[in-house]
Amino acid sequence: MAAMDSNALRRSFLDYFKGKGHTIVESAPLVPAQDQTLLFTNAGMVQFKEALALRETRSYARAVSCQRCVRAGGKHNDLDNVGYTARHHTFFEMLGNFSFGDYFKAEAIAYAHEYLTQVIGLPEERLWVTVHDSDDEAERIWTKDIGFDPARITRLGDADNFWAMGETGPCGPCSEIFWDHGPEVPGGPPGSPEAHQDRYIELWNLVFTQYDKGEDGALAPLAKASVDTGMGFERLAAVLEGVHDNYAIDLFQALISHAAGLLGTSDLQSPSLKVIADHARCAAFLIADGVIPGNEGRGYVLRRIIRRALRHGHKLGHKPDAAQPFFHQMAAAVAQQMSAAYPLLAKAGKQVERLLRKEEEQFALTLDQGMKVLDEALKGMQGKGMEAKTLPGDLVFKLYDTYGFPADLTADIARERGMKADLAGFDAAMDGQRTRARAASQFASDAHASLGLAAATEFLGYDSLAAEATVVALLVDGKPRKSVKSGEALLALDRTPFYAEAGGQVGDAGSLKAKGLSLQVLDAQKDGEAIVHRVRVEKGEVSVGQKLQAQVAPERRAATRLNHTATHLLHAALRQTLGEHVTQRGSLVDAQRLRFDFSHFDPLTQEEVRRLERLVNGQIRANTEVQTAIMPLDAAKAAGALALFGEKYAEEVRVLSMGDGFSVELCGGTHASRTGDLGLFKITLEQGVASGVRRLEAVTGAAALAAVEAAEDALAATAASLKADKSQVPEKAAALAQQNRQLQKEVAALGAQLATGGAEDLASKAQDLGGFKLLVHQMQGADPKTLPDALDRLKSKLGSAVVVLATVSEGKVSLVAGVTKDLTDRLDAKDLVNHIAAQVGGKGGGRPDMARAGGSNPKALPKALASLPAHITAQLPKPC
Ligand code: SER
Repeated sequence: MAAMDSNALRRSFLDYFKGKGHTIVESAPLVPAQDQTLLFTNAGMVQFKEALALRETRSYARAVSCQRCVRAGGKHNDLDNVGYTARHHTFFEMLGNFSFGDYFKAEAIAYAHEYLTQVIGLPEERLWVTVHDSDDEAERIWTKDIGFDPARITRLGDADNFWAMGETGPCGPCSEIFWDHGPEVPGGPPGSPEAHQDRYIELWNLVFTQYDKGEDGALAPLAKASVDTGMGFERLAAVLEGVHDNYAIDLFQALISHAAGLLGTSDLQSPSLKVIADHARCAAFLIADGVIPGNEGRGYVLRRIIRRALRHGHKLGHKPDAAQPFFHQMAAAVAQQMSAAYPLLAKAGKQVERLLRKEEEQFALTLDQGMKVLDEALKGMQGKGMEAKTLPGDLVFKLYDTYGFPADLTADIARERGMKADLAGFDAAMDGQRTRARAASQFASDAHASLGLAAATEFLGYDSLAAEATVVALLVDGKPRKSVKSGEALLALDRTPFYAEAGGQVGDAGSLKAKGLSLQVLDAQKDGEAIVHRVRVEKGEVSVGQKLQAQVAPERRAATRLNHTATHLLHAALRQTLGEHVTQRGSLVDAQRLRFDFSHFDPLTQEEVRRLERLVNGQIRANTEVQTAIMPLDAAKAAGALALFGEKYAEEVRVLSMGDGFSVELCGGTHASRTGDLGLFKITLEQGVASGVRRLEAVTGAAALAAVEAAEDALAATAASLKADKSQVPEKAAALAQQNRQLQKEVAALGAQLATGGAEDLASKAQDLGGFKLLVHQMQGADPKTLPDALDRLKSKLGSAVVVLATVSEGKVSLVAGVTKDLTDRLDAKDLVNHIAAQVGGKGGGRPDMARAGGSNPKALPKALASLPAHITAQLPKPC
């Protein structure tokens, strides 16, 4: 057997098939481009789905790739097996060769056999083969053409030997090649009851793609059959390294040792370390491919994977509240092992670490507590002899809802203790949340059905805004029409200068005219390769076949072009200023402004916003030519062109560059001729739109000037009201704010003085109760805080006295009562204040000489106060 490291092994596979006329195609991102039916890229064939079904023609009919894949959630879901078997992963690489209606079974089998036995030198006697039980032809090729021993060929049914990517798409019977790891490993050959154990491992799946499965599940035979093969890279590496467990290969051992070091454990065989190593790869690649942990859809799958890894860290003794979270530190190790083959990992390194760290810190808040709740419940069940029983659904839900434990995480823990979790019960308890999650993760295609209006429209709008063109189709309310007299319609031309909305740039507006006919074009949209104009008939009748003069509204297009060019400059400036983790998450470019959403965590500081503006304006002043070139996708990528995440590109792409390499981006939009055309660039808005996604809005040209003017006008108006020079506005405004705060304090102090200052007048209102004075008074609008002060003043003014003061503020009664010391043996302030409080819905307390109370019924206050003299008199000794 050939000894090779991971990089050499990938290379040998790609080179072998290149030698057989295959084009080497780069791995597609993990979020499938334009395939809404799939959660993640789960096989090498995903990016070739349309070509395999012969719906798309490429410049090559044979391809080879090494594809990054994730199987977690969705049809092919390996998540639950990770850590429990020697060969399951959430993230893995798949080596594959493909034929798009070119070669078929005989070549596919011959190539696979030659590669395994001749190129990497696997002994044939350790290979086993399965074929579909209906596939005599495949068996004949193996036995007769190849000379493979029939004793090691098994026929199996659909469950094992029929492969389909998802619910729809290309599929067919397959032939699988297995490797026998030897008698020291338990397990039986394919088809035997022990097949699921680790001795005989499926290495390579050769799918003979003969059908295209429709929405209704029917298998439509393809005009020409294709081939789709997939070989697990980690499994092959294990065979070559002479180990039977994928996790024993060099790449994984490096990750496992790193994790063990971080967690301070020496048990390198621990399944938890395998899970952590696997999940670190998966999380790093998903984040690098633009997925952000969240509560729905793809983001929730990622969060579940991260939380599972953290739980295994916890199991190995890592305390979630430890000063040093561990999992994000796996990212660097993953990048070290794999960034030679996947440079995107190194580029996204910082973003991966940050997001993982944030996730870990967030889950740390509840992981420990949740584990205690779960441990107790599990122990309780075991104690009652309820081993192998089921953890109730409402507990699974509580752990989910209160402690952030995904249900499969709880199930995983229960399984370790020989129990199950009632996931159906959990689902029932989820109810509302489940409905939401399902809506978000359905990934059903909502792309509008093709109007089928026309074949490809020739687009003239890069060079001209006007052209003569012929109407090829008309549609009203979804129905084709020969002519339209009034109202709105969809209209397709054979050629058009109207740009159809794409790449964030809005569609053009304008007019279509002929003699006696005038149509207003409200918008232009793509329908497949056709451009469809939404028009309103203003005069005359338009018919299919008619020649029209098309005219794009020039001002709207001109302003839009400037904003589109500014979007590219901003994108490049963001990557320079904030880092290469910045990737476009959405964009809208119209005549008024540009909006750009991108992945970044923190709000931008004022200084960062200024740096961006300066960089972009510097490019505008440099006034370089905006250059476009059409080139093959690979050449564009090699030239460093920024391609959009998740976007599907043709083989020939349009590359837009400006500023001597400052910005190089794939783009089909319309742009300024020179950067100087933009005049000025101003950012008008910075905000967050989702976790890890920021938004900027900006304006260019006349709109930028208008924004500056508006800011200047506001400054001038402020200066005028401050009676200051514009340059003194900040200083004056700060002084004014300070002065204002000071004044507020003084007003409050004066208010207090006012409330108590009337003490002199009030004292004169006291009545004489034979030996001492009684003053009962409601102070209009006084602040309750001022009452005690007023009380003290009045007491000292009156000498021997009982004073009761009340006020109503914000609908509440406040009361204070004071009794001078010489009277406290006869009268108690607490009793007095409570006598009133009881009548106004309140209660009070305090000392015999001073007590306070509140009340909720101001209406009853006057009567309650009036009742006090009689209450006091009743307590005094009767004169004899
Ligand atoms: N699509 C098949 C698989 O994933 C072969 O590539 O197994």
